[in-house]
Amino acid sequence: MERVLASIPPDRFENSLAAAASATEALLDRLLPETGPAPRLVKAMRYAALGPGKRLRPFLVIESSRLFGVPEARALAVGAALECLHCYSLVHDDLPAMDDDDLRRGRPTLHRAFDEATAILAGDALLTFAFEILSRPEVHPDAEVRVKLIGELARAAGKDGMAGGQMLDLEAEDGRKLELEQVLTLQAMKTGALFRFAATAGAMLGGADPVPLGAYGRAIGLAFQIADDLLDVSSSAAALGKATQKDHARGKATFVDLLGEAGARRRADELVAEADVALAPYGARSNMLRAAARFIIGRRK
Ligand code: IPE
Ligand code: IPE
Ligand code: MG
Ligand code: MG
Ligand code: MG
Repeated sequence: MERVLASIPPDRFENSLAAAASATEALLDRLLPETGPAPRLVKAMRYAALGPGKRLRPFLVIESSRLFGVPEARALAVGAALECLHCYSLVHDDLPAMDDDDLRRGRPTLHRAFDEATAILAGDALLTFAFEILSRPEVHPDAEVRVKLIGELARAAGKDGMAGGQMLDLEAEDGRKLELEQVLTLQAMKTGALFRFAATAGAMLGGADPVPLGAYGRAIGLAFQIADDLLDVSSSAAALGKATQKDHARGKATFVDLLGEAGARRRADELVAEADVALAPYGARSNMLRAAARFIIGRRK
């Protein structure tokens, strides 16, 4: 495995991620023109969606699509839809009633830059816009494929996915200690579900079996949240672009809290190994996805 990875030039992953990010940003900019009857809402949506994010989820859509020869414009459209949904989740996550954060992506959170009501509405509008994008023919000429994507993204975002996981996350703040298995469920829902969607989107667009990529997405989704929780204890607001040292103080149920930093790091390494196993059917063609798994646990922001 390491031998295969060693054959990837070290800057290739960073370059591919940067290319996916700038293509996604250009598309989001085009999809959200500052026109229409509610300009303040669109301004707020643009503030949230065009902020300096890593665009990791669109990158995974693009790279999983590459495995099946999906035209790039289709992958980009699905990635943009997913990024809108992700940005909505960040806006609502930061609200005073949720994590009550003032800093996101190195700038004031949306409710700080605008106001709370506007942030709630911009979140609502980004969430629904994601599905509007997925309904468009440029995503795929076959309406059945579009409906499949819409259904899967709705499931990933809803009561059994991200929103459900956010509910469990807030409920766990009451001081009761969760078991490892419960934290696993919570994190697989709140963060894992959108990663799983990102990783399987290429197979859905390409008419292929999504199961192996589903296992990959599950593993990296969990690894991603472990890395996020580790950064909360080890990084700084200046480096990360969002407040740190918050999770323990708020009683958040994290792997770091349960396993300690070293234990959480080991768990993240195991998940990367699981991700590699899941990618076995695709061989060297999936090297970029392997590199993404390593980036996720080694990232500094
Ligand atoms: C942060 O996601 C929210 C979590 C699920 C932990 P990212 O770290 O991907 O945020 P951006 O999009 O790069 O800002
Ligand atoms: C949020 O998890 C996951 C979402 C669904 C947005 P966190 O609350 O840990 O994310 P950050 O640390 O604020 O980005
Ligand atoms: Mg949160
Ligand atoms: Mg938060
Ligand atoms: Mg966090």
